[in-house]
Amino acid sequence: MRTTQLTLPADENGITQAAVLLKQGKLVALPTETVYGLGADACNDNAVAAIFEAKGRPSFNPLIVHIPDAAMAREYAEWNDNASALASAFWPGPLTLVLPLRPDSSLSKLVTAGQPSVALRVPKHSAAQRLLRAVDGPIAAPSANPSGRISPTTAAHVAAGLGKRVAAILDDGPCPVGLESTIIGLTTNEPILLRAGGVSQDRIEAALGHAIEIADGSQIVAPGQLASHYAPEGTVRLNATKPYPNEVMLGFGAIDGTLNLSPAGDLTQAAANLFNYLHQLDAIKKPIAVAPIPDHGLGQAINDRLRRAAAPR
Ligand code: TXA
Ligand code: MG
Repeated sequence: MRTTQLTLPADENGITQAAVLLKQGKLVALPTETVYGLGADACNDNAVAAIFEAKGRPSFNPLIVHIPDAAMAREYAEWNDNASALASAFWPGPLTLVLPLRPDSSLSKLVTAGQPSVALRVPKHSAAQRLLRAVDGPIAAPSANPSGRISPTTAAHVAAGLGKRVAAILDDGPCPVGLESTIIGLTTNEPILLRAGGVSQDRIEAALGHAIEIADGSQIVAPGQLASHYAPEGTVRLNATKPYPNEVMLGFGAIDGTLNLSPAGDLTQAAANLFNYLHQLDAIKKPIAVAPIPDHGLGQAINDRLRRAAAPR
């Protein structure tokens, strides 16, 4: 284990240093438009294994492979028409596509956890893009939090959660979207929503021209979608209209609280604030009451994360 952990600015020098560390098989936390990722060279077995160790992941759960553009996707996955439609609508951006893995791909088998599919994403964030181009190869990156805890949307969250288990953190301020990518399964002709996220279901359906199914456990699932996840230290109580005397409150719209996700009731702003505010309330070390969030657009992904944060552990 290292004894020092470096914070690098997202300038040319910082990007170059981060790329060198990744190529040496080290772990580097990087900003994306969704959340900070815990990055490693996706073709290096030892580096990928170090991700699981640093996060304390209980099992070898497959990781998202980040690539600079859709052209590189074809090196790792069997491409199809649904992938073309979604990639041209939402890449670069907060969308991950699960596609059949090409048998000749050079990816570490640990990245895909031995499954015949691979999750690919082209991030939009400028620092992530510049890092991918400097590395000139795929970066495996789960969210940069200890397994089961709240996802990080700032470099400070990463440092607090993972500390010296990462060689460096590339710091480029808060993540603008604030929620993880939407994951769509494209291993059959019927696209399936595996995880709600930064691109809402209605926008996915508009790009495909038809409705999609939501994974219910009978189809392939994203194995990381455990019931308890994103968990603060304290308990979480949903759909609260006011806090009990011992609670802190996460408000939304007219229902105010200790912090308010969006006083104006804007779901995009609420998504961007969600994990940061959960981190802040968690630091008060009291149970957290959460105001109701409308279940449409980005509200679906916000409610998904809140249900997992509130789930029995
Ligand atoms: O926004 C994001 O997606 C962030 C940033 C860093 O890109 N990453 C992220 O990764 O959220 P992670 O590991 O926290 O979540 C990845 C999810 C897990 O639920 C995992 O099971 C699922 O993707 N997944 C990965 N590969 C898969 C595959 N081949 N088939 C089905 N699900 C897969
Ligand atoms: Mg995660």
